Amino acid sequence: MSPANPIRRDGLHARLRAATDPAHRALEAGLDWQARVATRAGYRDLLARLHGFHATWEHAIGAQLSDETFLAPRRRLALLAADLDHLGLAPAAIAALPQPGAVRLDGPAAAMGALYVLEGSTLGGQLIGRHIAGLHGFSETGLAYYRAHGPRTGAMWSAFRTRLEAFGDDPDAEATLTHAAVATFAAMRAWLCAPHGVPGAG
Ligand code: HEM
Repeated sequence: MSPANPIRRDGLHARLRAATDPAHRALEAGLDWQARVATRAGYRDLLARLHGFHATWEHAIGAQLSDETFLAPRRRLALLAADLDHLGLAPAAIAALPQPGAVRLDGPAAAMGALYVLEGSTLGGQLIGRHIAGLHGFSETGLAYYRAHGPRTGAMWSAFRTRLEAFGDDPDAEATLTHAAVATFAAMRAWLCAPHGVPGAG
């Protein structure tokens, strides 16, 4: 191994987690989720923003991953719509919610990098979901997005990681994947944490 290609003891997942850790921390800090979900109106606003984000990014991921069998159970746009419906938003209002402008991902590796961010959010989401359940008395209805895979969270994450590791054999693919993951974290932070209204809505 040359110095430019040091021995890599960890798998791609460990490297990806380390590379995106600052972005995760920044998002977590910027989100201020406990304050956001403290009221039903705040929770609804957060879900409305997530709806826009998932609409754009799930579409972009689907177009480049080209594996609906793998992606379909990980899509959460319909779960967001169900929760918003439970919180009193009419279907027409849900359909009209703002979304970020179209995103272009450069191939399957970039799509996996973006999906890593969305899928990884189901992990911390379990904790957030339990908090919201206790606060607002929801069980499953109204909490579908944060409940996500529920008791299958560990199994779904394990299957995701297995798929992720396949990209670790190709340094170029890994670089593309990692870059896309960092960019997705940044885009999510910009979209969810914008102080007034929703940025770049179109
Ligand atoms: C929507 C915003 C968020 C996104 C996109 C996100 C994304 C991620 C990702 C990608 C991972 C996987 C890390 C790995 O590779 O192991 C993860 C894990 C985790 N996140 Fe977040 N996260 C978000 C918000 C939060 C918040 C607000 C919290 C605080 C409650 C949180 C707590 C955690 C925890 C505890 C884990 C590790 C879970 C475990 O290892 O079992 N996340 N998140």
